[in-house]
Amino acid sequence: MVAKTANEIVLMKKACELTKKALDYAESLIKPGISTLDLDKKINLYIIECGGIPSFLGYEGYPASACISVNDVVVHGIPSKSIILKEGDIVSIDVGVLYKGFNGDAARTFPVGKISPEKQKLIDVTKQSFFEGISHLRVGGKLGEMSSAIQKYAESYGFSVVRELVGHGIGRNMHEMPNVPNYGKETDGITVPENIFLAVEPMINMGKKEIYLENDGWTIRTRDGLPSAHYENTILVTRNGVEILTL
Ligand code: MF3
Ligand code: CO
Repeated sequence: MVAKTANEIVLMKKACELTKKALDYAESLIKPGISTLDLDKKINLYIIECGGIPSFLGYEGYPASACISVNDVVVHGIPSKSIILKEGDIVSIDVGVLYKGFNGDAARTFPVGKISPEKQKLIDVTKQSFFEGISHLRVGGKLGEMSSAIQKYAESYGFSVVRELVGHGIGRNMHEMPNVPNYGKETDGITVPENIFLAVEPMINMGKKEIYLENDGWTIRTRDGLPSAHYENTILVTRNGVEILTL
């Protein structure tokens, strides 16, 4: 969405604040032994308590309030009572909050207890690829300047960028134009307008970039079975720079 009024910006900021609060709350619950369904139930109640609406629930038939993706699950892991977090796992939690008609969307990958240095590196590089990306984003520039910076950074560590899933514009709808890929050439994509809201969300695999969709119609896994990490924020791009609204 390109904001046309100051009020639209205020409401987007509030939706994003609630999204960030929900993620912080989710992080506080992570420990070995908890099921991803328990996590989801608590996240659902918390968002509602805070005055938001869990926007994923029912979205294109999605059955939960959060996507909870463990280890080789890239994104869209469906919470389940039989998926129990254990020490050494990494878990990506993606949540969306609708507030007064506006959407926030954000994700993080968290360690469960003590994890391997390789997994920690994957988490750190995925997060840093987001910051590298947005440092190349400017009004009047090409969106591809950000996309290519994300790709270059992740690949410089020997990791790979998922191609099939991309970030997106966001506002009154969770998914709006433009697509925001995490790969490509600097000259690709739209010329960035001012006051645009984007969900920027690198999905980075430790091994190869190939993924597949499970039979449940949602869960996306790496083909090689190696772990994947996700880092997403909703941002506002203005002439004065980039504001990260879910940080
Ligand atoms: N957060 C995801 C995205 O960035 C959307 C989750 S799909 C849903 O596109 F079905 F769970 F909503
Ligand atoms: Co998103």
